[in-house]
This record gives sequence, structure tokens and C-alpha cells, in this order.
Amino acid sequence: MSDATPPPVLPDRLDVDEVVVLDFGGQYSQLIARRVRECGVFSELLPHHVGAAEVRRRAPRGVILSGGPASVYADGAPALERELLELGVPVLGICYGMQLLAHELGARVEAADVGEYGRSELTVVEHGRLLAGQPETQPVWMSHRDTVYTAPPGAVALASSTASPVAAFEDVERGIYGIQYHPEVVHTPYGQQTLMTFLRDVCGCAMDWSAANIAEEQIRLIREQVGDGRIVCGLSGGVDSSVAALLVHRAVGDQLTCVYVDHGMMRKDESEQVRRTFSEHFHVPLVVVDARERFLSRLAGVTEPEAKRKIIGGEFIRVFEEEAARLVAGGADPGSGPEGTTVEVAGDVPAGPADPGARFLVQGTLYSDVIESGGGNGAATIKSHHNVGGLPDDLTFELVEPLRALFKDEVRAVGTEIGLPERMVWRQPFPGPGLGIRIVGGEITEAKLALLRECDAILQEEIRAAGLYRELWQSFCVLPDVRTVGVQGDERTYGHVVAIRAVTSDDAMTADWARLPYDLLDRIAGRMVGEVREINRVVLDITSKPPGTIEWE
Ligand code: XMP
Repeated sequence: MSDATPPPVLPDRLDVDEVVVLDFGGQYSQLIARRVRECGVFSELLPHHVGAAEVRRRAPRGVILSGGPASVYADGAPALERELLELGVPVLGICYGMQLLAHELGARVEAADVGEYGRSELTVVEHGRLLAGQPETQPVWMSHRDTVYTAPPGAVALASSTASPVAAFEDVERGIYGIQYHPEVVHTPYGQQTLMTFLRDVCGCAMDWSAANIAEEQIRLIREQVGDGRIVCGLSGGVDSSVAALLVHRAVGDQLTCVYVDHGMMRKDESEQVRRTFSEHFHVPLVVVDARERFLSRLAGVTEPEAKRKIIGGEFIRVFEEEAARLVAGGADPGSGPEGTTVEVAGDVPAGPADPGARFLVQGTLYSDVIESGGGNGAATIKSHHNVGGLPDDLTFELVEPLRALFKDEVRAVGTEIGLPERMVWRQPFPGPGLGIRIVGGEITEAKLALLRECDAILQEEIRAAGLYRELWQSFCVLPDVRTVGVQGDERTYGHVVAIRAVTSDDAMTADWARLPYDLLDRIAGRMVGEVREINRVVLDITSKPPGTIEWE
């Protein structure tokens, strides 16, 4: 996380109860903010150093201090600003956050001889407010060596655990609460209840953060931001750009034009699905740029993975920019597109030049991107590589980012709320360069793309039929540049090998290969060699990440 203080992701004037999570560097800090939102309370994750004045400015109903790797008594450890305890709202410390509260308030915090990592048992001695209604013994998830030995003066010790004399305490009068365990992880079954009690009963939050409210608020905010300006949105077929586009369309209708660049490396029927959903179902003005030939000709003879990525990524931006420039210069022009492409236009794309002061670009930025980048300034300069339509070389758009405050699961909830088809809401991640980085070790050709598309379609169909699609982070096929000998119908064959890659993961940083049932694998392999003529061998990738990456290139 950067040192900058992120600007609020919701405008001040919105009347939504908020709880601030201060991040002390814990592994699960983002998860705390997500769990708070799942309880129905808007929550922002801020770096711990933002300062009490900044927290006060956001007027939260409560503050949560996250876990973190430091020791409260070590030199240079992140400290607690006393002013945070004087905001007049309850404070809940989790793990390091609890140790910090305890240390600051004069309790004994020291390293234990033995750390407490993983599953532990909590024994409640006094339910107090925080643990009201919970069982006297319960499993909890721990990850600490430093331990709180006494409750701070004036506070009540609520519970102990296998290795922690004080695993929870509260001082109702001062509004100070601490828990040593992690309520945000699924291995703490009463964790969500503890958070709910804190938010509803201790902080008095209204619990009104929901997908329906989010959608309504975002639509209102988009209208305020863009007035009668013209907006362009790049659609990829993924859930983020789809939800962002639909929200904008709900807000300002045909002021929006979506641009879908078909680079020819999409999966079977994917481009058609985007066209059907947006243009026929939702009646969103849509420009489809058929750039398949342009991409393939640029990729001819290229085999090196990084070179492929650079060409696909670079071309993609150029084609999008060129089309966006054409749109703001005077509306869409069916037929002739940017060089090497053809353009199809559906719906009422606005004609005539856009007001240069009112040109907007939709981006599907998510809250996790905002946290990682430490803010962002809300303006995008699209550099035009060619001088298009007499426009200046640099086109400046103001960004519209309707998902900026949302986590991925909230984006899906909003998508469902506004009627996006289930298939698009739950689409597995698909890389920008598409099938291009799944044809490995050789040149990308139309023939190989067609083979891979057919195999991939069989895989997806069978995985969906087995009810496993949502459980997998990704499932796809890879086509190495390898042929092997086989025998089919009494004849020797010399055909292509296709590999199945299916992984489970939470965030793509690490992944495990999915243990797909043998029967399912058998069905998939049988169909591939039976239905796709050139394929005579199917293999399964059983590498986790690390050491492998999810994609092969
Ligand atoms: P790896 O292969 O690095 O992938 O384990 C991690 C995640 O990122 C996706 N991925 C990409 N996404 N453009 C994208 O938009 C890319 O160039 C790209 N390369 C990998 C990959 O599918 C996985 O979800």
C-alpha cells in the first residue's frame, strides 16, 4: 500500500453509515472490510498512518484496527494515536489491533514462549456486549506470538484461549473492544456474528449497504457527474466492464457508446454473446470493431510469449483509441473502421462532435485496485498514436468509475441486481490477450485458434454441467505446438495435444490444481478426441502456483 491517503471512494454527501478499518499490515485486512460490508455496513480500508484527523473527517460510526506483523513494544512499531480513542465512536482491535489497545491502555503484552497459529479454542468467561449470545466454547483462528496477559485497567476480560490468557476484552464505557482471534476468516464460525454485534449493537449502524442501494446510488452519482456529456466505454465481456457499462446506461441512456474490439482471440461464441446481451437485450449503443485480421497479421511469425503479449496489448489500445477518437469526433461510421478493421454499429450512437469539456471514459476500476494504487486522480489521457480525424494528438477524458467503491463480490451482486445474465456475472477471469497466450511454443494461426476454441467449449460445457464452474477460479485449454502419434479407427494419426488447466484460487496470487473427478476428465477427453478431428491426445496439468503460473505463457 502506498503512503498516500486515499480520497474517499464515496462522496461525503452520501448518507451511508461507514466503519473505517485501519490497516496495520495484516494479511487479512482487506477481508475485514469485505466482511463488514457483508454485514450491511459500508467500510473503507485505510493505511494506519492516515491519522486520527482524517478518520474524524470521514465521520465513521466505528473504527476497526486490523492485525499486523509488528510487536507493539518494538522500536518503530506502528503506534496508536490517542485521539482515535477520543472520536466518540467505538473501536475494535483485532489481533495486533487488540495488542495495541491493550499496550496503550497499560495492560501487559509480551511474547509468549509458544505462538498460537491456526485453529484454537476460545473459552468465554463473561459474554459482555461483544460476545452476547455466543457459545461458551468455540473454535477460533489465531495467528500470533505476542500475547495479552491482563485486560487493561477498567476493562473486562471476556475470554481466554488455548494459549492466550486474555483473548477478548471490552470496556463498554470507553467504547473499547479487543479480540485476539480473526473473526474475518471462515475458520472462526462465530466471527461474523461478533462483527455483526459490534456493528449493529455497539456502533448502532443502520445496516443498509446492499446491492440494490449501491446500484441506485451509483446511477444517481453518474448522472450528477456527466450531465449531458458523451461517454465511451470499452467492453471486454468480463463482469467488471459489463456491470460498469450497464450502470452508466441506466444512468444516462444513449449518451453512452460501448466499444467492443474483437481481436479474434476470444472463446467460442463470446463476441456474439456480448453483442446479443448489450445490443439486443439491453439496447446499449454498441460499436463492434472487427479487428481479427489486423491482429493476426501483426502476430504472424511471432512465437515469443512476451512479444505476443506486447503486440496484442499494444494493438488493442491503439484500436480502441482510434475508435474512441472517431466517436468523439463525429459519431460512429459503420463499415470503415481503424486501419485493418471493419466496424458494425448497433443502436443510436450520437452523431456530431462531442463537447471537448464533456467527454467521459468508463473504467471498471474496483476498490481493490484503489487500495493497491493508494488513490488515483480520476483523469485519463489517452495518447493517440495516429492523428485521427484532425483531432489533437492527446485526447483527454474524465474517468467515470462506478465500481470504484466496490469489491468483486459486490460487483457481481450489483450485476445480478441490474439484470446482467448469470453467465456474464459469474464468468471466470479471462486474460486480455485471450487464447493468444494459450497457443504456446508456436505461431498463432486461425486454424490453431479454431481448434483451441472447440476444445475449450467442450471443457466449459462439461465443467458447467458438472456444477463445478463457480468453484474453479479458472478452467481452460492450452494448445502446445506438439504433435503426437495416435491410433483412431485402425489408422495411425499424427495429431495435436491439448492440455486441460483447472485451478482453485482466491486471488490468483497462489493457486492449486483442481482435483476434477476422473469420470468428468474421462468424458472431456473422450469428447475432445471424438469431436475435434485434429486432436488425438489430452493431458492434465497438475502444477500448482507456485511453482507454475496459472497461464502457460
Ligand atoms: P498467471 O498466469 O500469472 O496469471 O498465474 C494470474 C492471473 O492473471 C491472468 N492473466 C492476465 N490477465 N492480461 C490479463 O488481463 C494478461 O496479460 C494476463 N496474464 C495472465 C490469468 O488468467 C490469471 O487469472
